[in-house]
Amino acid sequence: AGVVTLDPGFTNTASTTSAITYIDGDAGVLRYRGYPIEQLAERSSFLEVSYLLIYGELPTADQLTAFTQRVQRHTLLHEDLKRFFDGFPRDAHPMPVLSSAVSALSTFYQDSLNPFDEEQVELSTVRLLAKLPTIAAYAHKKSIGQPLLYPDNRLGLLENFLRLSFGLPAEDYEIDPAMVKALDLLFVLHADHEQNCSTSTVRLVGSGQANLFASVSAGIHALSGPLHGGANSAVLTMLDDIRASDDDVDTFMTRVKNKEKGVRLMGFGHRVYKNYDPRAAIVKKTADEVLGKLGKRDEMLDIAMRLEEIALHDDYFVSRKLYPNVDFYTGLIYKAMGFPTKMFTVLFALGRLPGWIAQWREMMNDPQTKIGRPRQVYTGVVERDYVNLGERG
Ligand code: CMC
Repeated sequence: AGVVTLDPGFTNTASTTSAITYIDGDAGVLRYRGYPIEQLAERSSFLEVSYLLIYGELPTADQLTAFTQRVQRHTLLHEDLKRFFDGFPRDAHPMPVLSSAVSALSTFYQDSLNPFDEEQVELSTVRLLAKLPTIAAYAHKKSIGQPLLYPDNRLGLLENFLRLSFGLPAEDYEIDPAMVKALDLLFVLHADHEQNCSTSTVRLVGSGQANLFASVSAGIHALSGPLHGGANSAVLTMLDDIRASDDDVDTFMTRVKNKEKGVRLMGFGHRVYKNYDPRAAIVKKTADEVLGKLGKRDEMLDIAMRLEEIALHDDYFVSRKLYPNVDFYTGLIYKAMGFPTKMFTVLFALGRLPGWIAQWREMMNDPQTKIGRPRQVYTGVVERDYVNLGERG
C-alpha cells in the first residue's frame, strides 16, 4: 500500500544498506571496506581482497594462508560435471557455459545449499572461488577444441587458471609472472562495485532464499549484456571495426554523437561515475606497461587513446559527463595475454565473484532483508469483458 514511486533503472532508489563498497561517483572514489582502490591495487592481491570483501577485514598472515590453502584444495571439478563440457556445441559462447556449469554446481553439492547454515555457506563460498577459474578455463578450452587439463593444486589460483587456459597435456606450461600479476590486478579492480546490475541480480535471486550457486549463476547472465560486463569485449569489437575502416575515428565518433541505433562509444559512461572511473585510471596506467612487458604493444591501444582524447574534449561527452570506465582498456590487456574476445566477460566474472558472494552473504545476515519485489505503475487497459473467439473482429 502507500504511494508507489516510478524509478526506471533504479537511478534514485536504494535497494539495501551495505557496508562493503563505497563509491563517490562525482569525485571518482572507490573503496572496498574503506580501503581506497588505489592502495589495494598497488599493495594487495586478489585472494586477500576476496577475504576482505567477504569477511570484512584484511586477513592476518595466518588467516590468508589458511584461506588460500582452502581455496586451492577445491579447484577440481567432479568428473561428471567435467563431462558437461562435451555436451555444449563447439562454438558455444563461454559466458552461458560458465553460468550453466555454476548452476549445475547446486546439483553436485547438495550438502552446501542451505543459505542459513554458516558452515554450508562457507563451503559453497570456497567451492565457488576455487572452481570458477577451472570452469572458465574449460569453457575456453572447449571453444578451441583442446583437451581439458586437471588443476595442479601446488600452484596458486591464478597460476593454475593460466595453466588450465593455455597449457597442453604433453607440454610444460611456463607461467609468466608478469601475466599473473596483471591478471591479479585486474581481478582486484573488478572484485566489487556495490549494487550494479549483476550484483543486484544476485541479491534479488538470493532474496527469495535461492542458494548461492543459483544466485551467482543468475549474476553471470546479468553480467553478460553489452551495457554491463559484456562491454569489455564490445570495446575490442569496436576498436577492430575502426581499424578495419582505415582508422576512421572521426566517422565513428560522428555516428556515436548522432545516436545511430546501437552505436555507443563502448567502455565510456557510467551510471554512478560522473568523473574518471578510478579503475580505468589504474588500468590505463598499467595497460601501456603490461603490454610493453608482455611484448605486445598494440596498435589498437593507440586507437583507444585517440578515442579517449577526442571524447575528453568533445562537448557531447563533456556535457554528459562521459568518461572511460573500467572496460575501456581491460580488453587490450586480456587480448595481449592471449585470451580471445569471447573470454573477456568471463574474466570479468572471475574478478567480480568475491563481490557477489560478499553481497549475497551480507544480505542473508541482514535482519532487514525481505524478498525483492519491485512495484509497478500499470499502464494497460483498466477493465474489459471477455469476447468469445468467434465474435472477435
Ligand atoms: N556513448 C555515447 N553516448 C552515451 C554513452 C556512450 N557510451 N553512454 C551514455 N551516453 C549518453 C546517452 O545517450 C544519454 O544521452 P541523452 O542525455 O542525450 O539521452 C546520456 O549519455 C546518459 O546516458 P544513459 O544511457 O541515460 O546513462 P545510464 O546511466 O543509463 O547508462 C551505461 C550507463 C554504462 C549503461 C552507459 O553509459 C553505456 O551504455 N555505456 C556503454 C557501455 C559500457 O561501457 N558499459 C560498461 C559500464 S562499466 C562496467 C560495468 O558495469 O560492467
